[in-house]
Amino acid sequence: MRLNPFGRIYLTDPAAMWRRILDDPDGVQHAEDLGLWLISRHAHVRRALSDPATFGNSLTLAPVYEVCPEALSVIMRLDVPPTTVAADPPVHPRTRRALRATFANTPDRVEAAYGAIVRRRVDQLVSRLAARSGQRVDLVREFTSELPLLVVLDILGVPDTDVDRIRIWADGQIALIWGQPDPVEQVRLARGLLEFWHYCQDLVRQRLDSGRDGDDYICRALAYRDDDDEVLTVTEVASIAFNLLVAGHETTAGLLAHALDQALSQPHRWREMAADPRCVPAFVAETLRFAPAIDGWLRVTQRDVTLGEVTIPAGARCLLLIGAANRDPSVFAHPDRFDPHRTDVADQLSFGHGPHFCIGAALARLEADVALTGLAAAIPGLRLTPGYRRSFKPNVAFRAHHALPATIDVTTPVDGPTAPPAAPAEAHAA
Ligand code: HEM
Repeated sequence: MRLNPFGRIYLTDPAAMWRRILDDPDGVQHAEDLGLWLISRHAHVRRALSDPATFGNSLTLAPVYEVCPEALSVIMRLDVPPTTVAADPPVHPRTRRALRATFANTPDRVEAAYGAIVRRRVDQLVSRLAARSGQRVDLVREFTSELPLLVVLDILGVPDTDVDRIRIWADGQIALIWGQPDPVEQVRLARGLLEFWHYCQDLVRQRLDSGRDGDDYICRALAYRDDDDEVLTVTEVASIAFNLLVAGHETTAGLLAHALDQALSQPHRWREMAADPRCVPAFVAETLRFAPAIDGWLRVTQRDVTLGEVTIPAGARCLLLIGAANRDPSVFAHPDRFDPHRTDVADQLSFGHGPHFCIGAALARLEADVALTGLAAAIPGLRLTPGYRRSFKPNVAFRAHHALPATIDVTTPVDGPTAPPAAPAEAHAA
């Protein structure tokens, strides 16, 4: 068994690969061509996520391939201090404390701090789509990748006018680090990333110049810092903004696209959602398990470690296959079946586990719940274009749809046969 994250199977049906990897007697393999150790079992992935003394985060944001010298010289100019996702102790606990104090991360706090923003943006995008009844749209371009970006920009106090360039920079960062760009593309993306970093530094500088009296996230982080570099430096505030602008949108965009794909591929599911929005949270939870927006994540070993029968040496990069762990049959009943009624869904690892557990999990769930509820209520006849075939962007970490072509129909469909359009990649799903 050999994992080719850029091969046809993984880009159309990653679950087929996860099943084969999980069937391997060791559950841990060294992929020499990728230079990565692959960890697939739930217990091993969970351990790696939650044991920073053995599995560190320092290389999480370093490209997974050998970068060409010209791109590398640009990347070397990125003087972003590690915070949260790229940091290990003692920096991680300190910057994590800052994030927990300044970014709402429980359902109640998220509802109070960001609920109005999420509802306003969902209403705006849903009304725009509903006004186009009878037309074909790409739900990725016009909804799933749009909503989380607008929400995170509102939270950070970034003007709407910058939405397009931030989208390009953030997409570029994901392709540069976890994708497979050719050398010309690497240079272009690396330059974009440097511009993005300077842009984030400017966002912070503008607030410092204007007396930091706004109520956006960056002002809150500066107030928390209270001019004390031991608490947080100004550059670390820029680094946190830089991370939030990517983490806050690409991930939730993936969750929304996977949820819509699952719901619309089986039209009865969409009808149920339109008829009874109370089923939405469980549907979102099962989407997170079944089709995680981040299905592979990186760690580097700080010392030799033995998992099962396999010893991974110190200094090795590991790809934690969250997608495979979420389908481990020793944890999940009928793991390859999409089942919103399952009772074991809470064991999924899609938001990580332990000290780096996703700070935006509650926000992502709120966005997905409000978005699906609003869309199903306004466009109950929404359907995927017949012949639609699922395919994902080449990436070892982020599982993002290329497109979700659909037809807008605001009328309520009459109950009828529920045959999905062609989506052979998951013919095994219930
Ligand atoms: C479906 C949506 C999301 C998914 C699947 C997701 C996934 C993850 C995962 C797997 C981690 C753990 C990283 C690790 O262990 O190294 C993580 C951490 C993080 N996430 Fe999310 N995330 C999502 C949404 C968000 C949102 C909306 C935000 C903020 C606006 C966010 C901000 C962060 C941050 C700052 C961290 C780093 C926490 C730390 O290192 O202490 N995420 N996320």
